[in-house]
Amino acid sequence: MSEEPSAPDARTLRDIQSVVQQELTAFQRSFRASVSGSSGLLNTVTRYVLRQKGKRIRPTLVLLAAKVCGGITEATFRAATLVELLHTATLVHDDVVDEAETRRGAFSVNALWGNRVAVLVGDYFLSQGLLLALKHDDTRMLRILSDAVRRMAEGELLQVKRARSLGFDEATYFRIISDKTASLISACTMCGAVSASDDATAWERMETVGEQLGLAFQIRDDLFDYGTQGIGKPVGLDLKEKLTTLPLVFALDQADRASRRQMVRILRRRGRHPDDLAATLAFVKEHGGLKYARSRMVACVQAAQETLSTFPPSPAREAMIALADYVTTRKR
Ligand code: IPE
Ligand code: IPE
Ligand code: MG
Ligand code: MG
Repeated sequence: MSEEPSAPDARTLRDIQSVVQQELTAFQRSFRASVSGSSGLLNTVTRYVLRQKGKRIRPTLVLLAAKVCGGITEATFRAATLVELLHTATLVHDDVVDEAETRRGAFSVNALWGNRVAVLVGDYFLSQGLLLALKHDDTRMLRILSDAVRRMAEGELLQVKRARSLGFDEATYFRIISDKTASLISACTMCGAVSASDDATAWERMETVGEQLGLAFQIRDDLFDYGTQGIGKPVGLDLKEKLTTLPLVFALDQADRASRRQMVRILRRRGRHPDDLAATLAFVKEHGGLKYARSRMVACVQAAQETLSTFPPSPAREAMIALADYVTTRKR
């Protein structure tokens, strides 16, 4: 399986987040408040969504990046709230797209209320985020985040298209994950910088940090799909959706024609045969796919850490460096 022992000195997420603990508590209040004005079905679903807390990695990154770049401001809090609203919206939509029944260890919104409600509730989170920024004239942040939302939609669409055509090249894989995941994570680090400093080179460096972290984050997530149960969302789902992520892309590239053809057959039938998942895992392992994906993930994390080291040393910077390590060792 894809799990590996974490380094003994790896910091836990809780420890990393303790550097901005008070700010995260304030964020939490503002996040809840930003979606609490509704009534009826919208209120019921919104409260359900709020009950299942995620890891809060994106708001943590906004706060830490701001701290590294000069200090947390009111605009930093708005950015943190906004990114978590956008993130929540895309997860609710993503579970519709992926037909996923679980999220954060509970039933997904679409599983409980159906696709129509999930699409509309996702839109509600999205619009509340954009309105929050508009209300305070955070136009620069709004531009950065709107662009991230556009790229997320493009990435998800390219992924759908590629699943249909069974395309397997690595360049397309990286384009998809850059658009669907790294776009928002780099918007987090960049908005953190923008909210704290006027130094455009700091913004750019923080954008690079977020981009590399985001790529590593999604490769880790794709490795989860080959892992064991217990991460709070389904495993083996990518195969059912004919999604070829990095471990499989690499393995298909390495395989001889016969075994490649066999694997494509499994993909075409969406892994419906009971042995397909095990066969896919064996195929990917045999051709070094998991190892390769891990090495690419580590390279992204190192690139992020190198860029971070160009900022002056501080506890916030060390926390960001540790958060980069956490991305590869995380268990959920
Ligand atoms: C999941 O993001 C979606 C991906 C980009 C892989 P997270 O793993 O940050 O989700 P939560 O917020 O902690 O549930
Ligand atoms: C990540 O996509 C969600 C977005 C970035 C929109 P995935 O489908 O790979 O993520 P999980 O595994 O459902 O969280
Ligand atoms: Mg998806
Ligand atoms: Mg999904």
